[in-house]
Amino acid sequence: MTQFNEAELTDAVIGSFDQTPDARARFLLQELVKSLHDYVRKTNLTFEEWGAAIDFLTRTGQTCTASRQEFILLSDVLGVSMLVDAVNHRDRAGATETTVLGPFYVGEHRVTPHGTDISASLKGEKMFVQARVTDLAGVPLAGATVDVWHADDEGFYDSQRPSYESEGPSSRARFITNSDGRFFFRTILPCSYPIPTDGPVGQMILQTKRHPMRPAHVHFLVAAEGHEPLVTHVFIAGDDYLDSDVVFGVKDDLIAQVEQRSDPVMPDGKLASGPWYLMTYDFRMKPGAGVAPRPLGTIVPEPV
Ligand code: BEZ
Ligand code: FE
Repeated sequence: MTQFNEAELTDAVIGSFDQTPDARARFLLQELVKSLHDYVRKTNLTFEEWGAAIDFLTRTGQTCTASRQEFILLSDVLGVSMLVDAVNHRDRAGATETTVLGPFYVGEHRVTPHGTDISASLKGEKMFVQARVTDLAGVPLAGATVDVWHADDEGFYDSQRPSYESEGPSSRARFITNSDGRFFFRTILPCSYPIPTDGPVGQMILQTKRHPMRPAHVHFLVAAEGHEPLVTHVFIAGDDYLDSDVVFGVKDDLIAQVEQRSDPVMPDGKLASGPWYLMTYDFRMKPGAGVAPRPLGTIVPEPV
């Protein structure tokens, strides 16, 4: 029978993965064991604390559904999502900055004609969004796919509303850039909002006296052939939470001045029904390859 002391136990567990066929999987598992064992030793973790951690992770898993991803939320509030983003985007000179995907990239993003009001059924202040997708030299990229999604003016995503199943997507759509790399649409001005606080992750944020707020933003996922997929947001300048985003996702380059306008005609020549806001942003894509994430709920599991 083999009996291990603290240090030998760590070495034995690391060694137990030595035959893992995939070298990268072996490396990741062995480093994970090292970090976890270090944490237990450094903190002298008690049985109660370990049990509470298992219970927390169990509840996190149990909170996940086809349209709710509590583990992404956990990764986001611990800064892990932004760290993974940072180590994978070390060299983006000239390209638009990236930020978290977040847990609300869900359901169907239907291809929608330019100019459509994607929040037609919602109350809120009207906003016109005009944007352009180019390469690093400013050459327009035609035919790029752009998924957009954002919260309503009470801070909720469509998928958080009980009516989502029956009414389908709102403030959520897909656009294809025209020959000049442009796309544009109507929507409402999003507001800053709290991450969900009715699950274990939000409860942890409240119990640790952090605030749960994200500054107002619109999400964009841009995919253009021959370029790295771009997962990002455009934040609205002046928001109270730009300096304390609960998921650490704000970058200066992603903050846009969203102007209040009273012109009777919108940029596509159509009449405005009252005052409106204008968001303008240009996305610069980095050459390369990569697979864009797919919306949660549209991923069909492989047959076993
Ligand atoms: C979001 O922006 O949709 C989001 C991102 C991370 C955590 C929660 C929400
Ligand atoms: Fe968001």
